[in-house]
Amino acid sequence: MSRPARSIMALTALALAAGVHGQQPPAAKDRVTADFEKFRAVLEEDNPAELFEAKGEELWKAKRGPKKASLAETCDLGMGVGVVKGAYVRTPRYYPDVDRVMDIERRIVHCMVTYQGFSEKELAKKPFSSLDRTPDPVSLVTYVAGGSRGMKIAVPQKHPKEREAYAIGAEIFAVRAGPWDFSCTTCHGEDGKRIRTQNLPNLATHDGSLKAYQGWPGYRMTGGVMHTLQWRMNDCFRQQRFPEPGYVSDSITALLAYLGATANGHVYKGPGIKR
Ligand code: HEC
Repeated sequence: MSRPARSIMALTALALAAGVHGQQPPAAKDRVTADFEKFRAVLEEDNPAELFEAKGEELWKAKRGPKKASLAETCDLGMGVGVVKGAYVRTPRYYPDVDRVMDIERRIVHCMVTYQGFSEKELAKKPFSSLDRTPDPVSLVTYVAGGSRGMKIAVPQKHPKEREAYAIGAEIFAVRAGPWDFSCTTCHGEDGKRIRTQNLPNLATHDGSLKAYQGWPGYRMTGGVMHTLQWRMNDCFRQQRFPEPGYVSDSITALLAYLGATANGHVYKGPGIKR
């Protein structure tokens, strides 16, 4: 893609991240200038995901929600309260406080609900990005994922419930059902498969499964929005003509445990760009 085209995409992302709707009240001017500086930096880096990382960092640190709490002071992603570094590449994982396995988005939503007092029902109403709206969990996941840039994927498989999640994920991946009798394997279980121009990674292999991790959360060029793996999973359930699972559900956690652990050992490069 050409540089100007990229710039337009990044500009769209900037507008969304900054909430620019044409007219700005004078008080917002400084913020816009600051966001514009971020935009410039993004052009240099060519990675619009960084805008969402910056937005996510703000959200992570701010006192928010009915309980006016900051996630940085309350939320344990598995590495200690407030610790972001290395958390992303170690999820899904078992969390003793809730006695269950959670993927990163689920854990973040759990923290937003438990400590900040947000309503899970409200968050689940429109969980995916659209052109005019990026849900807070998406920016937060992007920020947290950035904290694992350059680290090895190390999805734990020690706790029995972590192994159980993996086994369930492997089963969901292989089960054929629905009107077309498709499974994930139908599209992602062989090397060199494609639909139209899109290569379909063989996610059942160690190398192939990296595709389920690398570049996610990703700024999607088709549509110009930021998406996490929750969206990718739901979109593939839809492609499979299965009913879409609920937001931050057990089946998604299980699938991500399976795909993530299969990719263990690869180096994660941080939030990226997807076609
Ligand atoms: C009908 C075919 C089809 C089925 C069935 C399907 N997918 Fe997909 N999947 C796709 C397509 C198409 C893409 C997008 C590829 C692209 O944009 O390059 C994709 C992309 C993905 C990606 C992202 C890969 C990347 O390179 O970023 C993951 C992860 C994924 N699918 C997982 C699954 C899982 C898990 C299931 C089962 C619940 C599933 N898919 C079922 C067609 C399918």
